[in-house]
Amino acid sequence: MTAENRRTMIDEDVRTCTCCPLAATRTYAVPGEGPVPARILFIGEAPGRTEDAQGRPFVGRAGKILDDLLAGIGVSRDEVFITNIVKCRPPNNRDPTPAEIEACRPYLEQQIALIRPEVIVPLGRFAMRWVLESHGVKPGPISAMHGTVVRIRWSGGKRTVVPVYHPAATIYRPVMREALAADFGTIREVIGDGFGPDGGTT
Ligand code: URA
Ligand code: SF4
Repeated sequence: MTAENRRTMIDEDVRTCTCCPLAATRTYAVPGEGPVPARILFIGEAPGRTEDAQGRPFVGRAGKILDDLLAGIGVSRDEVFITNIVKCRPPNNRDPTPAEIEACRPYLEQQIALIRPEVIVPLGRFAMRWVLESHGVKPGPISAMHGTVVRIRWSGGKRTVVPVYHPAATIYRPVMREALAADFGTIREVIGDGFGPDGGTT
């Protein structure tokens, strides 16, 4: 089976999933999108209102910020994979529960195996903690961890994790937005000069 076919199957499983209570309140599940494989994987927390309405990740206000940050380092959105820890919107954007996160985990694990990212960028404290703690790393606060480089093994490969602030958290906070832009500079360095439609090695 090709990677694309496998991805289509995962997407279909997510869109029809009823494994946790969030299935009852979602409009559309949001599997995530991007090429497989992809050198960079962004992991957010959960779909928000706009994402739930469209079935696509980071298409609301936070998504616009993410697009701008990517453009700032010369990377286009269709070169990277973007998803969330839980694929369905929690009512009123409440935090997902541990049970919901656990129920949704197999989808992200299947996606990692397919995407095989070199660099994983958790967006915000919540995603950072989930990614690092599930790999035996006890993270400090995001204010200390953002922009740092943490090496883990996940799904049979070495992955470089670069936690950053959640784009939505930087709205109206220029200092945090500058830190976020600087951390995208770190992502660009980690990925090296080979990145891009002409130089990528996927
Ligand atoms: N915030 C997230 O964490 N994920 C999205 O997809 C959109 C906003
Ligand atoms: Fe299934 Fe995940 Fe949606 Fe829960 S959040 S219904 S586990 S896809």
